[in-house]
Amino acid sequence: QTTALMAGAIGKDGYRHYMEKELHEHPVVIGQTLRRFVNPVTHKIELPDMPFDMKSLKRGIITACGSAFYAGVIGRYWLEEIARLPIDLDVASEMRYRNPPFDEGGMGLLVSQSGETADTLAALRSLRNAGQNIISVLNNEHSSMARESDVVLGMDAGVEIAVASTKAFTAQLTVLACLTLVMGQERGTITSEYIDECLTALIDLPSRVAEILQMQEQIQKMAHIISQVQSVIYLGRGIMFPVAMEGALKLKEISYIHADAYAAGEMKHGPIALIDNTVPVISLLPSGPLFEKTLSNLQEAKARGGRILVFTDVKGAERVKGIAEQIVVLPTVHSFVTPPLYTVPVQMLAYEAALLKGTDVDQPRNLAKSVTVE
Ligand code: G6P
Repeated sequence: QTTALMAGAIGKDGYRHYMEKELHEHPVVIGQTLRRFVNPVTHKIELPDMPFDMKSLKRGIITACGSAFYAGVIGRYWLEEIARLPIDLDVASEMRYRNPPFDEGGMGLLVSQSGETADTLAALRSLRNAGQNIISVLNNEHSSMARESDVVLGMDAGVEIAVASTKAFTAQLTVLACLTLVMGQERGTITSEYIDECLTALIDLPSRVAEILQMQEQIQKMAHIISQVQSVIYLGRGIMFPVAMEGALKLKEISYIHADAYAAGEMKHGPIALIDNTVPVISLLPSGPLFEKTLSNLQEAKARGGRILVFTDVKGAERVKGIAEQIVVLPTVHSFVTPPLYTVPVQMLAYEAALLKGTDVDQPRNLAKSVTVE
């Protein structure tokens, strides 16, 4: 009901759907969220005081539902690799009943747009009962989760009306990126040069995302291919795996096309049996250390008749030619910001596919914006 009321008050500003409008708000939302954490005078990232010492923190546990969970998975890759903090992770509907062993004083990190998702709220309470400090990454700072958290890391995504989350996801990543850099700095795992590089890349991100929002035609071309099939596989390796999961979730949510995401290296352990020319493979493939390995997974899929569709950068595009039926060339960015950057075109792809399928994009069947019952 709240969403319906808000929908009445907030227009579509000439866009066909709230989802389209919200996709176009990615750059603004990333910039606003970043401004909340970056001191304009010192140009350093500042977070609220934490209820634990970041340097001696032993372990974190991340939990959330839906898209927010995939943002959390990206957060795990960042916090483990960059801040060297061990992270346990699970969807909230499992976490609330899992009862894993805890040491007192760890970090329970919740991610939620609404702050009202029943499973995430229940997981928050079970983490608190297990003696964890509760840090929540929230868009709604007046929500139940906000009230029950030790620290709220807010994001400035504004009201999100489309049921399928878009701009809140990149805002969540912006907050998790800031948390990672501060955590890495406090734990002495990264240099100040590295922090500056990453911060510059984050500040530059809204402009790069704005470039991607102009690539509608190429993304429509890819949407034409996938709107004609019944099943799609998304592949990603490393931190691109959760981005692939977000892409697959978004596609099934709003276009009702079956989609699954796999870690590229797992293909040979099962999913490759599905591949033929009716099951396109969409790969998120930024150039970098994991590029060649993922490329060879694509070659295997191609050899089995798979149709290969790739999101990559200029350097990657050269290597992918000859394998891919379509390549969307994204701007080259610092590897730290590839997750939010590659999220935008996969969300756009889901939107364009849904348009071609003629589904109710903003209110997909059987789904709710905020799931406040178990
Ligand atoms: C619902 C929405 C998703 C969202 C998920 C978690 O399933 O349809 O878009 O990602 O809830 O919501 P939250 O408000 O906790 O982020």
